[in-house]
Amino acid sequence: MTEAVLKLADLVAGHPVTTVYVMSDEERHEIEHCLHHYDDNRAASIDALKIVQKKHGWVPDAAIAKIGELIGIPAADVEGVATFYNLIFRRPVGRNVIKICDSISCYLTGYDEVRNAISAHLRINLGQTTADNRYTLLPICCLGACDHGPVAMINDDTHRDLSVENIPALLEQYK
Ligand code: FES
Repeated sequence: MTEAVLKLADLVAGHPVTTVYVMSDEERHEIEHCLHHYDDNRAASIDALKIVQKKHGWVPDAAIAKIGELIGIPAADVEGVATFYNLIFRRPVGRNVIKICDSISCYLTGYDEVRNAISAHLRINLGQTTADNRYTLLPICCLGACDHGPVAMINDDTHRDLSVENIPALLEQYK
């Protein structure tokens, strides 16, 4: 269960990726709009990160600084939120992100077999993206469907009762 000790954030953070990032007017307006919902601008940082990720697929370093500047808090605080919240990606990911639960119930009901089937089908390991950029495979902790393990999310969809047999059909659904 060595992968279980890896945190999703460890796989998507910690390896700087150089990229050019320019915040669009649309992003800036959406983030400024979020500020009206909170008394403390810090509380808007997670919304701001989600807005950037929705547009770009992940959150580049330059976006962290820009968000801090826009909402008036240190970039280090924005980075802290991005690191803590494990669904914020700090490295580029594929068009579809598989998050497979490696917590105890799923581990006991076939996590290893299902993860191996996904890896074999896509020819990637945890933390990697397919050459065609179609899928990224990441571990995640409990998704709250423990009585239906093994469980994984693909993008926003939760898939329960996974088995080695249903993996190929499942992966065909996402282009
Ligand atoms: S342990 Fe996998 S969903 Fe809870």
